[in-house]
Amino acid sequence: MELPFAESWKIKMVEAIRKSTREEREEWIKKAHYNVFQLTSDQVYIDLITDSGTGAMSDQQWAAMMVGDESYAGASSFFNLKAMIKQITGFDYVIPTHQGRAAENVLFSYLVHEGDVIPGNSHFDTTKGHIEGRKAIALDCTIDEAKDTQLELPFKGNVDIKKLEDALIKYADRIPFIIVTITNNTAGGQPVSMQNMKDIRCLADKYNKPVLFDSARFAENAYFIKTREEAYKDKTIKEISREMFDLADGMTMSAKKDGIVNMGGFIATRKEEWYEGAKGYCVQYEGYLTYGGMNGRDMNALAIGLDENTEFDNLETRIRQVAYLAERLDEFGIPYQRPAGGHAIFVDAPKVLTHVPKEEFPAQTLTIELYLEAGIRGCEIGYILADRDPVTHENRFGGIDLLRLAIPRRVYTNNHIDVIAVALKNVFDRRESITRGVKILWEAPIMRHFTVKLERLS
Ligand code: F0G
Repeated sequence: MELPFAESWKIKMVEAIRKSTREEREEWIKKAHYNVFQLTSDQVYIDLITDSGTGAMSDQQWAAMMVGDESYAGASSFFNLKAMIKQITGFDYVIPTHQGRAAENVLFSYLVHEGDVIPGNSHFDTTKGHIEGRKAIALDCTIDEAKDTQLELPFKGNVDIKKLEDALIKYADRIPFIIVTITNNTAGGQPVSMQNMKDIRCLADKYNKPVLFDSARFAENAYFIKTREEAYKDKTIKEISREMFDLADGMTMSAKKDGIVNMGGFIATRKEEWYEGAKGYCVQYEGYLTYGGMNGRDMNALAIGLDENTEFDNLETRIRQVAYLAERLDEFGIPYQRPAGGHAIFVDAPKVLTHVPKEEFPAQTLTIELYLEAGIRGCEIGYILADRDPVTHENRFGGIDLLRLAIPRRVYTNNHIDVIAVALKNVFDRRESITRGVKILWEAPIMRHFTVKLERLS
């Protein structure tokens, strides 16, 4: 008999989590104005609000923390990190920052100017924020198929090459670089194929534009290339990662995802000009060049996290767990963005809560229902997150309305996954009785989802 699959690690340290009663949760979520960002962590049993900074470090990472070099200038920890980044990406220049959005801020301060256009696949919110905040345009050129949640495509995060070329012709000199987000978080943690990256590189060369990778989940992207793109099945994750980065000029990185650290990020590039242009902003916003926004110990832990998480076994354990949740949802007939992504399952809320009108925010309603059911905290990636149109001030109902269940790395077991799946099934089973959603009582002008106050309609 073939042995079953199991995790590529064992557990050395545990953290207690607590169940609560439905009555307690009713009270807590009401006090939180039906906004899960306002809950305290002890009010949550299983926390799927994000996979960012919530992973479990290994014994090797904790050991490296103890020998971190906290020197202000020239710390050995920086050179450890820089050497590992060079090994994985081939990039010579490295600027450490405190997280991904800080890397965006530092690099875009140099590269992005008023009136610019930055085409790519779906820009993450902070990336978009750093572009739009500089009065430039983030132009989404993701393939249209990504919007159809039920369509099974191996590389649903891809850039539409035709849309990209049209943009390169139309905006020509206004484009400072092309951005490719690997994996495409907004489209559901969907990967970008090596072929697509090669096609992007060809266009970039034709129109003489540099390419930047938003690399938060690059290792998960490499795993999908290995398992879905025939020519790569015998290559290692490290070989594939190197081949991906060979197609880019530089990267921004939120190390809180595939670096498996709780805080950290960096810029890396082969372009001396980008490094020279951005480094002053690092000193101004983050810190001196050999620590940026990071402690020495954290740079040490990140160097090891990058090494560990570019090994197949570690990624296989992680991505198979996300796929396991998808399999359980399939068993119950619950619709989600197909196929399962690398870091999360995105439940298609309007397909579940068919009686809740869009004006009453189905994905937010489902988020609340799942919390009430079992103390599981997911997060709305939908109409509330989309904010209002800056011109018309109307809600933007044009995109997709999803409940994201992001799985932290190396944190929960498949028993927890079973609890999540069954809790969602229980909500799904009573979906016909859920006819009303929520109403906004108060909202901030931008990024309203963090602080929005809601009322539950009945
Ligand atoms: N790029 C991508 C693709 C991201 O998913 C994130 C963060 C960032 C950049 C910004 O990095 O948080 O370190 O400043 N995503 C988190 C999430 C917050 O929950 O998906 P950061």
